[in-house]
Order: sequence, then C-alpha cells, then structure tokens
Amino acid sequence: MNTYRVDFEPLGIRADCSEGSRLLDVARQAGVGLTSICGGNSTCGRCMVRVISGRVSPISQTERDLMDDESVEEGMRLACLTRVLDHVKIEVPPCSRLVDQRLQLDGIDVDVPFDPVVKDVVVGLATPHMGDLRSDQRRLFEQLSQVLDQEINAIDLFALRQAATVLRNNQWHARVSLHGQEVIDIHAPDQRPLGLAVDLGTTKIAVYLVDLDTGQTLAVEGIPNPQIAYGEDVMSRIAYAMQGEVNRLRQVVIEGLNQVIASMCSRPEEIVDVSLVGNTAMHHLFLGLPVRQLGLAPYLPTAHTELDVKARDLGLSIAPGAYVHLLPNIAGFVGADHVAMILATSIYRTQKTVIGLDIGTNTEVVLAHDGVLTSCSTASGPAFEGAHIRYGMRAASGAIEKVQLSHDKVEVKTIDDQPAIGLCGSGILDAISELNGAGLLSSRGKLLDGLGVRQNHSDREYLLVPAECTGCNQDITISERDIAEILLAKAAIRTGMDVLLADRGISAEDVDEIIIAGAFGTHISVVSGIKIGLFPPLPVDHFRQVGNAAGIGARLALVSGPQRQLAVEVAGRVHYLELLAQEKFPNQFAHNIYLPQP
Ligand code: FES
Repeated sequence: MNTYRVDFEPLGIRADCSEGSRLLDVARQAGVGLTSICGGNSTCGRCMVRVISGRVSPISQTERDLMDDESVEEGMRLACLTRVLDHVKIEVPPCSRLVDQRLQLDGIDVDVPFDPVVKDVVVGLATPHMGDLRSDQRRLFEQLSQVLDQEINAIDLFALRQAATVLRNNQWHARVSLHGQEVIDIHAPDQRPLGLAVDLGTTKIAVYLVDLDTGQTLAVEGIPNPQIAYGEDVMSRIAYAMQGEVNRLRQVVIEGLNQVIASMCSRPEEIVDVSLVGNTAMHHLFLGLPVRQLGLAPYLPTAHTELDVKARDLGLSIAPGAYVHLLPNIAGFVGADHVAMILATSIYRTQKTVIGLDIGTNTEVVLAHDGVLTSCSTASGPAFEGAHIRYGMRAASGAIEKVQLSHDKVEVKTIDDQPAIGLCGSGILDAISELNGAGLLSSRGKLLDGLGVRQNHSDREYLLVPAECTGCNQDITISERDIAEILLAKAAIRTGMDVLLADRGISAEDVDEIIIAGAFGTHISVVSGIKIGLFPPLPVDHFRQVGNAAGIGARLALVSGPQRQLAVEVAGRVHYLELLAQEKFPNQFAHNIYLPQP
C-alpha cells in the first residue's frame, strides 16, 4: 500500500499516512485540533476542511446533506468522510479549528482547616552500629510509630526501594510521606510534598498544584480534555469507547495529565497525593472501567464509592507510591464533580431553599430544601458550548460573548476583542434574548420579519456580523435551527429545576438562591437567562455565579481529610431523581421549550 503525505495548512503540520486513510484519523494522529463534535460518526458536519491540492475520495451524499450549499460550492469536505488517495494539501478553516478556549479555573474561596490525608514528617533515625542491627524498615517503622504515636507498619515497595539510598545519603534523615499507616514515599529532607487536585471535565481539565506543607495553591493550569478529538459530549465518547477504545480514551487523558504535570512542576516525583473529580463517564474512562452500561437504560455506574488507586497503576508520572483519590459518584449521570460542587458551595449545610446548577453538556442540578438534598442530571447537550450551532464555538479568542441590539443596530463583544469568528454560549444566549426582546422571535423561536432577518436556503437567519467585519470572511448569523438547539438545551435545564421543585412540593418563588457553577455559567448574563426562560424570574441578587466549584471541591478534598470524609457523607445524603422516570417530565419539557414573550 502506498504512503502519502498530508500537509495541514495554515497550521504547517505534516503527517504521513497509508492510502485510503480517513483525513480525520490522520489529523488526530498528527495532533491537528480539528472539531469533531460527533466523534467522527459523520453526523455533526463540523469537521470541514478544504482540499487545496491532491486527490481524495469523491464527495458523498452524506457530506452534501450535512453541509450547506455554499460550503459545498467552496469545495469543503468533511474530514471524517474523506479518504487520502495521493499527497494532499489541506486547509483547516478557522471555524473547524479547536482553538485555545477560555477555561474557567477559578472559583469561590473556601476556607477549611489544613489537614491533608497525606502527612509528611521529617525523621532522624539512630545510626546503625554493631549493637543495633535493625533493618532499615524496622528502624523507620519504630521511629515513625514513636513520633506519630500510632503504629506504622506498611511501606510501598517503591518507597522501600528508595529508603536505603535516601537514608544513607542524608545521614539517616528523611522526609516521609504517609497515607494512613502506609509509608508511600521517602525522600531527602529538603524535598517538598506536593499535591494535585484535578477536575476532569468532559470539555476541559483543570489542574491545581498545591503545597502539602502549607496548603497553598502554587499553580493552576487548564487544558482541553484531549478526548474531545474522539467525541465532544459524553454520549459520543461512550459510543467511541464501545468500539473497543476504552483504553485509547484512558491513555489520551493520562498523557494529557502527564504533560500538564510536567509543565507545572519541575520534579513531578514530589507529588504525593491527587484528588480527582469528574462526571461518572469521565471517572470510569479515567480508570479504564467499562462505560457501555452508562449509555443504556437504566444508566448504571460500575463503581460509586470513593476510591484510592495507586498512581503508577494508572500511568501517572508522580511519586510511584502515591494514591489518586477519586471522590464518590452518585448515579450514572451524577458524578463526583457534582459531589465536589455541593461541597464547595456548602449547599449541603444550608437551611435555606437553594438550587445549585453545574451547566455543561450534562447539567447537574441539586435542590436543597428543609435540609434535604435532591439531585438530577439533565441532557442539556453541547449547544451552550457552541456545538450544533452553525457559527457556534467554544469560549475562545474571537468568539462573540455579548450581543446587544439597540435601534436596529447589533453590537457584539468578542473574547480578547478579536475579529469575530463564531458565537460562544453566552453570545448565543444574549442574541436570542435580544432578538426576543426586539420582537423578532415568536414564542416557538421562529424569526419574524424585520431588519437583519433573511432566508438562507431552507432556513431563516439573522445577520449578526457581516463577512467584511469578521475574522473568517463569512457572515456570522444565528439561524432558526440554532435557536431551536438552544431552546432544547434551556428547556432541559429549566425542566430539571422544575421537576426537583415539584418533587419537594414548592415553586420557584420559594427559592432563596440559585448558584450557577461551571465555565459557561460563569460568563452568561443572568438577565438574558431569565429573559429566555432558562432561569426562573427571580431578582438578580438571588443568583450567584461561583466559577469552577467542582475544581474547588477537588482542592478541598486534597487539603482536608475531613472534607474528603464529608464528600462521602454528602454523596450518601443526596436523593437521586431520574428525570426520565418522572411522569411530569415530558409535559414540563414541552412547556419550557417556549420563549417567554416580552
Ligand atoms: S461529521 Fe465529521 S466529525 Fe462529525
């Protein structure tokens, strides 16, 4: 079979592949960040590229169906349906590139007493002599038991291997890391103990490096979850895993984490503890657990309790004896990240009526009322992250994040004030709210006649930014199809809240506070959310946007053993409500699809 060269422009990335390879697979292997919302299943139409030169397989009917006529006329192809038949040069247009996205890493400050699970002690051992022939291990155990006033009687094999050298090189002094009664690491006294808190999201991974001597956060980094190349939402990733690819998904995330660790810390072996949260699917894929059952009713998790797993068994490049602590899951679609959010926002101890929302491709909702916690998960889909929206994109440089309509004039604000290349979730929300407020939308989300509204083939659309003012040489519009996607997402989230309220026999007016967590939730306009019916019409001061609460919860579990224990109690207290099993769900959902009329 022939080998061909593929050049991806303007990225300047070159790759070799065998004849007949799918362009999407070549791009993935070469590290080209190509959007593939459906995970390469040829349903999203977002992996558009243009063949500049060279021979590829002819365009298929599916491609014609998934792209608009304009794109087909411009010679666009879908990378997941195009096969390489020659040396080719490919253009990856801006709209198809996974650009650096704005990742919400910060959140509220929560103060808890510093009391980590992994304890570090500096010990000085008696120097051996002919009258003291105790082994290194016994010498260490006896000294530690005396200093800590508890019996220490276990040591990780890797720590034991290090012990002889470390003790002799440091005149019988060492810094020892203990996990309960087990010595998990032994190192020179001048080394510092570090910890990592990880929020493993479907879209992004947030990593916090913490000094375990002081509890201080030393560095924070975020990367897009590298599994995105294999599907942008949980269900498409589960579908990909079901093709026998659980390990590939596990590997890419471990590789991504190892890269972040290496960039954050010059001596990764100093990391002696990790706490990790994620939704149930991310949790299972991280551990290499099967996820097939998560995609099929009744959506059961394989594991739900908190887990401590040796980092080396997972392939993480940190101290080999260290454990990764995974917080407990609640249900198939309500995972440890939800537990972490409840922990970080202290919803678990409120006596008020509070709703907590973590908006993502799945939105988890918790209601606290009369001290009882009830949670559900609602499939809000990736529309708020820009997927299934013609000019949708994640919150990245050039994304329209704010839209205002005044006197028939559209004003947009983009991230980093760059020329617009698409619309992120907050921009889409604003656009719909403004169009609705201007009387240009029916309650079903249909565009009414007015300035800026036009027909585009079988769809109607509203012109937001003309091509000459954009960074992608195309008119940026919002269409009726886009609006329909958002209305589905907003109906899912609002219905989640409504069903929880109805379950407790209360209404939205009884809610004292709505806490909004997550990257999308941090940047949206609450007012726009109320205007389109995403949120109940409560005074704006009833809303609190808290940033990455799941990441904060992971940090709490890293710096505090009692918080780790509390997470287990919280998970056990949450009553899980399966929305699909609720009689009222379909009607409530149908009702919530409508736009409130101004
Ligand atoms: S259509 Fe190609 S990745 Fe979705």
